[in-house]
Amino acid sequence: MTEPMILCENLVKIYKIQDVEVLALQGLELTVQRGELMGIVGASGSGKSTLMNVLGGLVRPSAGKALVDGHDLLKLSDAHINKYRREKVGFVWQQGARNLIPYLNALENVEMPMALAGVHGRNTRQHAAELLEMVQLSHRRHHKLGQLSGGEQQRVAIAVALANSPKILLADEPTGELDSATALTIYEAFQTLNRELGLTILIVSHDPTIARHVQRVMQIRDGKTASETIRRRRQRPEAAPAEHQAAEHEEHFEELVVLDSVGRLQVPKQYREALNLHGRARMEMVDSHLIIRPVPPEERHQLPPALAQATTQAEKKPDGRWRRWLNKLRKGDGR
Ligand SMILES: Nc1ncnc2c1ncn2[C@@H]1O[C@H](COP(=O)(O)OP(=O)(O)OP(=O)(O)O)[C@@H](O)[C@H]1O
Ligand SMILES: [Mg+2]
Repeated sequence: MTEPMILCENLVKIYKIQDVEVLALQGLELTVQRGELMGIVGASGSGKSTLMNVLGGLVRPSAGKALVDGHDLLKLSDAHINKYRREKVGFVWQQGARNLIPYLNALENVEMPMALAGVHGRNTRQHAAELLEMVQLSHRRHHKLGQLSGGEQQRVAIAVALANSPKILLADEPTGELDSATALTIYEAFQTLNRELGLTILIVSHDPTIARHVQRVMQIRDGKTASETIRRRRQRPEAAPAEHQAAEHEEHFEELVVLDSVGRLQVPKQYREALNLHGRARMEMVDSHLIIRPVPPEERHQLPPALAQATTQAEKKPDGRWRRWLNKLRKGDGR
């Protein structure tokens, strides 16, 4: 089996501002195969941009494992990480124009990173023209920034990001400032590049429809991989009547829970609330299933007293507070 393009195991990033530590990634797991087109979603502050910045070599991870195309991002020297960032990664930001030079036209903008890398000649112009063609902008190649729409500027920015033939393309909310019709043209550009160049692409998005435009969506919750949504084509049964033929093309989305490398998983908040799951739960295997059940109040006396109390207390406390309370208990403060 070929090695994945991206492999993160138990990835941790802690930002330190004076004496305050922010745990932005807390044991994130991610495997991306070569040539995948993937979406990343999650609430504001969940760690999406931090992950992109780590993968792009802009931010150093604190612990765990982060390998991209065989490069160990925890071990690369400063000189090597600069080279890695220049040669292996293309970035697209929410404001596409951020990477563009206003007094150059689209074609010259795409040529610029090649010139900066010391690559000159007729081939660079041809390469720039091919990239603009892939993002459907050949007809706008002589337009300057101010003569292009927001969506067009973003597509030029994508072509610029690809000028030096990176291995991965990282896009942080590339459609954040665009209407949904324009966003569609950006997704189409990513799909073309993924298909034609076999490029590995990660797109961070707040767009709930992103699953329709990529092969797989990872959801981050509190700096950890929580679940993945996979797009599947529904299979039409062999003997399905002709009127059901349309169903052959029907897509559906399946959300899968992610187990980390030591088997931990997150139970989604809506399930925890619906079943009153707090503190402790029962897990048993039945046939090919795992069943997770709350501990009913009448059975709590069978638990060690501190845990029984914790489980009962947890039900009364808002989500999050019980965890701190349990930690206190474990450290012995509450026993
Ligand atoms: N440079 C930094 N220094 C300190 N804390 C940071 C820094 N960058 C991000 N954080 C913190 O890390 C956490 C994750 O931030 P991040 O920007 O990765 O979230 P995000 O998922 O991209 O959010 P959004 O959807 O709002 O862009 C947040 O609590 C944020 O405040
Ligand atoms: Mg962000």
